[in-house]
Amino acid sequence: MQSELYLLNCWYGLAWSTELDDGALLARKVLGNSLVVFRDKEGRPAALRDRCSHRMAPLSMGKLKDGVVECAYHGMQYDGSGRCVHYPFGPVPARAVVEHYAVVERDKMIWIWPGNPELADSSLIPDYHFHNNDDAEDDWVVFGYTNVKADYRLEIDNLMDLSHAEYLHATSFGGRGFITNHGRYQVRDLGNEIHSNWWMPAIDLVHPGTRQPIGVQADHFLDMRWNAPSNMRLQVGFLPQGVHADREDAPRDDLPGQFSAHIITPEDEGSCHYFWSADRPKGSVGFVGGMDKEMGRKIFKVAFEIEDKPMLEAVAANMHKGFWEEKPLILPNDVGGIRARRRLAKLIREEQEPAGAEAVSSEALIQMTPSIS
Ligand code: FES
Ligand SMILES: [Fe+2]
Repeated sequence: MQSELYLLNCWYGLAWSTELDDGALLARKVLGNSLVVFRDKEGRPAALRDRCSHRMAPLSMGKLKDGVVECAYHGMQYDGSGRCVHYPFGPVPARAVVEHYAVVERDKMIWIWPGNPELADSSLIPDYHFHNNDDAEDDWVVFGYTNVKADYRLEIDNLMDLSHAEYLHATSFGGRGFITNHGRYQVRDLGNEIHSNWWMPAIDLVHPGTRQPIGVQADHFLDMRWNAPSNMRLQVGFLPQGVHADREDAPRDDLPGQFSAHIITPEDEGSCHYFWSADRPKGSVGFVGGMDKEMGRKIFKVAFEIEDKPMLEAVAANMHKGFWEEKPLILPNDVGGIRARRRLAKLIREEQEPAGAEAVSSEALIQMTPSIS
């Protein structure tokens, strides 16, 4: 495993909240580490190393009983902090502890901080509050998950360069020439947050089903926000033509839009978890305006699973060296993605080689930092 792969002191998406419904015991690998994820007695999310302290049995093969995990092998039971609370054949031994990780539930997602738990600051979790507006027929959110056999940074590249929508998504939500014919590309660099945006003035709105113009013009924008290490949010806007022309070169987060989450978490060095969502706010126009929830679920799933995933996996299979060693051509539309890639590499470097620190073995560097308390 390469030591330059992952940032540890940061938040990654671990699971959608609903994945822990109904007493689920979820096995999930993140950053090369196998975890078991569940809700404790109080309903709080918990993540433990998926390995019993006795004979290394995966705890995810066991059962969740009233908020504690019972190992399937000899019945030891662990609570959400990883402490053994019951050994069926005698007193609980002092060393019967499994490592646990800092997790927080926010905006329908369980977030994990794989680094030093003492540094885990939940105010650093990027905002996805639109996930909580899933409450009406005309105001819904769909949530999905796609596993992609590719380095997680290829998925970031893909999302930061939405020009691919004109080709790869020609039969789902792209291919209408909006970017090709009207697009003006902009990058807003705020450090560990980078926006890779398209502004498309005076496009002809089309019906999402028939794809025929409906006789209305709009100013359209696609604003992709990246927060280190790999948490992204897309805002898609269709504004009354000319009304917000002054926003072409200004932040647009406050303007009405359709939001979607693109939360990427490395599974290991060759694959990643892609947690995606899409909302349809009340009064939507443009692409999602004419969709019901089922239609929305279907079309986003097609785009991410049938269109993006095979391409990213084929790209990954076509790479035989590291990204930079492959000497990829860098085009003007790649500025946002390349900045995010470089920023992430810098953060990883700084985390691994803090100023004045002694060199540490690469093996030690890539270990996630569990807590045993
Ligand atoms: S391996 Fe889990 S109780 Fe023995
Ligand atoms: Fe895509």
